[in-house]
Amino acid sequence: MSSWHQPVMAREVLDFLDPRNAGFFLDGTVGGGGHTRAILEACSDCRVLAVDRDPEALAEARDALAPFRARVRFLAGRFDRAPRDPEVRDRGLDGALLDLGVSSYQLDADARGFTFRPGAPLDMRMEADGRDALTLLAEASEEELARIFRDYGEEPRARRLAREIIKRRTSGGVCTSDDLVAALAVSLGRAPSQQDKARIFQAVRIAVNEEMEALEAGLPAIRDVMNAGGVLVVIAYHSLEDRAVKNAFREWSRTCVCPPESPVCTCRGEPLGETLTRKVVRPSQEEVARNPRARSALLRAWRRAA
Ligand SMILES: C[S@@+](CC[C@H](N)C(=O)[O-])C[C@H]1O[C@@H](n2cnc3c(N)ncnc32)[C@H](O)[C@@H]1O
Repeated sequence: MSSWHQPVMAREVLDFLDPRNAGFFLDGTVGGGGHTRAILEACSDCRVLAVDRDPEALAEARDALAPFRARVRFLAGRFDRAPRDPEVRDRGLDGALLDLGVSSYQLDADARGFTFRPGAPLDMRMEADGRDALTLLAEASEEELARIFRDYGEEPRARRLAREIIKRRTSGGVCTSDDLVAALAVSLGRAPSQQDKARIFQAVRIAVNEEMEALEAGLPAIRDVMNAGGVLVVIAYHSLEDRAVKNAFREWSRTCVCPPESPVCTCRGEPLGETLTRKVVRPSQEEVARNPRARSALLRAWRRAA
């Protein structure tokens, strides 16, 4: 198994996607290519469009999936743009996977600036362009910072942390992982635990990469290019992402979407599909023991109506 990234809940993903020959699948977050490989191995005549916004991930996936090169095509960019791809528009998708968040490689490569390990830079961009974490922490208003820490980090002292970051701008700013951890320590009034650090760094990462925006745009766009019977599987690692997925799947599975005050049903009256996961699916204990980074994974699946 590659140390770049171990695919999470690969068995469950295959059970839901049920890849068949002649099928065309989207892996919107190919990372190290583990899930794409599993799909390609499950059927000898299916194809995958493998997308990632991180050029280093795409290069790794291209290498790892070289034996399958005739059946996989790589596309750089955000998954919410994949539905505009001409082949996707022509053929439609027989299944799609979004395995959200970051890969082990991104977290482990200090130079990428995702980590709270001491002395690391603050970057956190999955793509080469855009506002990095350093710039966000140097330029965002107190309101924006407080919202990021509250909404994405579920930090009860979000406002205090935002204020501490603004205060530090007059004395050198927040330039490294140590500076952000030090600001967090002041706002908490104690040494932050590993979990405290992980929550706050994850919150900044979600904001830097506009991850919620990509998910909110991507879900309906991908739904609209799914063929009848095609399944969309999403693995989230954050409660906010999981809530967005759960609400979208519930909304698309409703029979009637008229406003409650409507006296008669004037909508299509047909659900767009069905949610296949009544309850969120979590990794087994064995998987978490083998791969501790799987522990926060939350999987949901939805099938387009036939
Ligand atoms: C958890 S990893 C995926 C791992 C992959 N399933 C595997 O088996 O190796 C998430 C990957 O998705 C990419 N990513 C995150 N958000 C994305 C988005 N909105 N569009 C495209 N790629 C994204 C990240 O760069 C990262 O490589």
